[in-house]
Formats: sequence, C-alpha cells, structure tokens
Amino acid sequence: MPLDFEQLIPSIPFILEGLKVTLKIVALAGVLGFLFGILLALCKISSIKPLTLLADFYTSIFRGTPLVLQLMIIFYGSPQLFGTQIEPYYAAILAFSLNSAAYISEIIRAGINAVDKGQTEAAMALGVPYRLMMKDVILPQAIKNILPALMNEFITLTKESAIVTVIGAADVMRRSYMVGSDLYSFFEPLLFAGLIYYVLVMILTLLGKVLEGRLRGND
Ligand code: ARG
Repeated sequence: MPLDFEQLIPSIPFILEGLKVTLKIVALAGVLGFLFGILLALCKISSIKPLTLLADFYTSIFRGTPLVLQLMIIFYGSPQLFGTQIEPYYAAILAFSLNSAAYISEIIRAGINAVDKGQTEAAMALGVPYRLMMKDVILPQAIKNILPALMNEFITLTKESAIVTVIGAADVMRRSYMVGSDLYSFFEPLLFAGLIYYVLVMILTLLGKVLEGRLRGND
C-alpha cells in the first residue's frame, strides 16, 4: 500500500480552512436545532391537540426522508422556496437545523416525560406559572438526563455535515476531495479528512463527559 503523505503537506492548510466551514455549520445548526427542538417538544407534550399533531407531523417528515435529500431540496429549491438562490452555507445551516430539531425534540420530549410527576405537582401546588416551572424546574432536570443523547446528536451532526459536499460548500470533506483531484490521488487526502472528523468527534465526546460530570456534581 504505497502512501505518499508528503505530497499532501502543501495542501493541509487548504483542507484545514474547511474546518471553519464545518464547525460553523455544526455549531449554528446545533444551537438552532436545539432551540427549535425545545419548542417542538413543548408542542408535543402540550394539551392543545393541533399543536401536538403538527409537531408529530413535522418530526415524521424530517425523520422519514434522507437528510441529503432535504439539503438538496432546500438548496436547489431555494428560488421557488424563498424567491432567491441561497448560498450552500446557508442552505446547509437551514437543512441541518430543521433536521436536527426533529431528532432533538424527541430526545427532549422523552427527557421531560422522564422527570418525576411529583416535580410538576409540587411546582403547581406552589403556584409556579407553567413557563417558569418548565424553565427552572422541569427542563434543567430533563437536560441533565438527556445529555448523553444530545451529545450523540451533535456527534451525528458533525459527521453528517460532510454531505454539504454535494451542494458545493467548501467544508473539510469537499476540500479533501478537491485536493484529491489535484494530486490524482484521493486516498491520502480522504484519510486526512477522516482523521479530522475523528478528532472532532473525540473532542465532543470528551466535552460531553466533562459536562456530564459537572452536572452530576451539582446534584
Ligand atoms: N443519514 C441519516 C439520514 O439521512 C442521518 C439523519 C440525521 N440524523 C440526525 N440525528 N440528525 O436520514
């Protein structure tokens, strides 16, 4: 297996530049997906039936179709959807946020349901309004329990972000592929891309462990 990493060295800064794109997409989509996911989860547990149905329908659509398809529909369909062609970068953030929200809403819904009923009853007996009860009593406990599942979602998001290559966003994956075509050898740059994603996922795993330890310390 002849491997020539030396020829790759001049292209390493070019590939690493893509890390910014990858990280920005993942971070923004993670935060937006999380916020929208909370909203969807609240709709799912709400007593207002149309809200529940709407949120369930939303999840079924975004979980029931491939993410790469959603990404392409948003990017290539943007003239019809928004009246203008949007940049691959924005299409990626939008598609990943909407998709992730569907998954995150299920994680949060399960987390909220797992919080002991006595907590809700106690808060209501004390006359705490619904909004404050959710914000200060239920959600903090739910988030602690679902942290591993949330971390898993962010890891999935990080790896799945590689599909933005298909719409031309210059992320780590696409840049590695471009370097491959330049060098007439794809193996080394793709292995290098693999290393970058692996390190990213390891950092997220570690971050998750630290956060979990912190939250447990708060008990
Ligand atoms: N490849 C899967 C799909 O296309 C990944 C979905 C994204 N998963 C997630 N947890 N956000 O459906």
